[in-house]
Amino acid sequence: MFTTNVFGVCLFVTVFQNCYGAIDIGKYIPVCDRNSPEVNDCLIEAVSKGLVAMANGIKDLGVPAIDPYHQKELKLDYNNNQISAKMSISDIYVSGVSGSTVKDVRLRAEDDSFHMEIDMFSPQIFCKGHYRGGGSYNALRLNATGDFNTAMSDLTYTWKLDGTPEKIDGETYVRINSFYMRPDVGNMVTHMTNENPDSKELTELAVRLTNQNWRLLYRELLPFAQSNWNKTGTRIANKIFLKVPYEQLFPVLRRVILIYLLSEVLY
Ligand SMILES: *[C@@H]1O[C@H](CO)[C@@H](O)[C@H](O)[C@H]1NC(C)=O
Ligand SMILES: *[C@@H]1O[C@H](CO)[C@@H](O)[C@H](O)[C@H]1NC(C)=O
Repeated sequence: MFTTNVFGVCLFVTVFQNCYGAIDIGKYIPVCDRNSPEVNDCLIEAVSKGLVAMANGIKDLGVPAIDPYHQKELKLDYNNNQISAKMSISDIYVSGVSGSTVKDVRLRAEDDSFHMEIDMFSPQIFCKGHYRGGGSYNALRLNATGDFNTAMSDLTYTWKLDGTPEKIDGETYVRINSFYMRPDVGNMVTHMTNENPDSKELTELAVRLTNQNWRLLYRELLPFAQSNWNKTGTRIANKIFLKVPYEQLFPVLRRVILIYLLSEVLY
């Protein structure tokens, strides 16, 4: 009995070490057994800690800093019968994500599919950057360049990640291929400067209209934002999902080994 026990412990330690050999994800984020009844509570904690760990980025995994998150450029081409706008936004900083609360996490981790939903609340998200571009409203033309910042408050949203398990060098990883969210925003206030003296007054008017009608504008621009979030969210998620094997991110093994160990001790 002693030898089988020792064997059991060794097996446990070996599997454990194998799991945590290359990159110790547990150093940054608690690991949750996907079949455990407490998996949701564990995931809420894991995502909360993960966001804090990712605020300044995770070098080992190549995860960029997410608070503030820096995006070099975003191009926007908008056309709607009366309004058209062509803008290039650069040096964008988005901050506030790590001050969010993770409300709930739901996981459906199967052998052939992966789906995770994360309910979030952010009291404040602040976004700033430089813009250059022009727009027209009927015959009215506006050409401007300057800085902008947008403060959003009380955001409620759900991150929806979809992925497919994939074998890479004999190890199964999940490749995330879709990231979706549609934030409900409590309030939004935008400020803009304009370095072009010819259109200064028009810009001031545009900012006033933007702040008065932000809900409408937000709805119109949401598809652009969502396509951008899909690219960014998928890329950042895969920094973790494609580097840490599925079995290690969401182990099912540990429970089996614990039961095996217990049975060894008991019999
Ligand atoms: C906008 O103004 C800049 C200079 O401020 C000029 O170089 C550019 O050609 C203008 N663009 C349009 C579409 O008028
Ligand atoms: C995100 O992009 C991928 C690939 O471009 C696409 O298959 C997926 O449907 C997109 N997801 C959403 C929510 O738009």
